[in-house]
Amino acid sequence: MASNAPNAAALIESAKKAAAFQAVEDHLSPTDKFVGIGSGSTVVYVVEAIAAKGPSFSANMTFVPTGSQSKGLIRAAGLRLCNLDERPVVDGVSVALDVAFDGADEVDEDLNLIKGGGACLFQEKLVAVAAKKFIAVADSRKQSPRLCTKWKTIPIEVLPLAAPDVLNRLKAMGSPNPVVRSGLPSKAGECVTDNGMWIIDAPFPPLLLPKDLTAEVDGNGKNGAWEIGKLAEELVKLPGIVEIGLFHGFNGVQAVGLGKQFQAQKP
Ligand code: 5RP
Repeated sequence: MASNAPNAAALIESAKKAAAFQAVEDHLSPTDKFVGIGSGSTVVYVVEAIAAKGPSFSANMTFVPTGSQSKGLIRAAGLRLCNLDERPVVDGVSVALDVAFDGADEVDEDLNLIKGGGACLFQEKLVAVAAKKFIAVADSRKQSPRLCTKWKTIPIEVLPLAAPDVLNRLKAMGSPNPVVRSGLPSKAGECVTDNGMWIIDAPFPPLLLPKDLTAEVDGNGKNGAWEIGKLAEELVKLPGIVEIGLFHGFNGVQAVGLGKQFQAQKP
């Protein structure tokens, strides 16, 4: 018998769209001037929500992309585009973005994020840190008590030349089977980022939060137990790593879409 119930994919799309429209409604002010636009499929709805407010709402706004995909979205919606390095400089400093919207692959209970599923993590982090307020738009599938629980790998952007050594060093740090990503977005061979780099997906056991640490568990990677900040600190020290997809300890990060209103749409 044919069912009128929406299928799982349609429910996911409606949760992403609802989160995006809510995020724009709650966090984009008509007085905002510079707005960061992240990457991924949820952000498509963020741009749709901004466009739905009409041209006069965004007439005085300028939109800063995190890569080629978001640049295309901004242009297609008829919004004003400005690359990160082209922002006006006032008193010797590039103006801050008022707010940046982006998706996430996983969000923990302290609002730390894994990002980089779409290979845009480096520019996403640059835009996020340039913004006064960072809004992670994530439907309830992305919610986890600890990172690396559902999304089991940390995306790491590397210089191609350094990839073999970085893979070895990651293994020595307790990542069982790190791999160079292939296929996306170039579809064949290695995944080449907008910055000409490669992505390594490095699995780690669920990442501890500072509140998980005890005298016995110090979060320094012994027995595979890493605390998120300590792991991030060690990763960024490895030569050849350009940026990591752990977004932790961000000032002003807020998440939209994890609440019951979106879970209620599940069958
Ligand atoms: C791209 C990202 C994306 O924001 C993340 O992968 C979420 O994507 P989606 O909204 O399609 O689930 O970090 O590098």
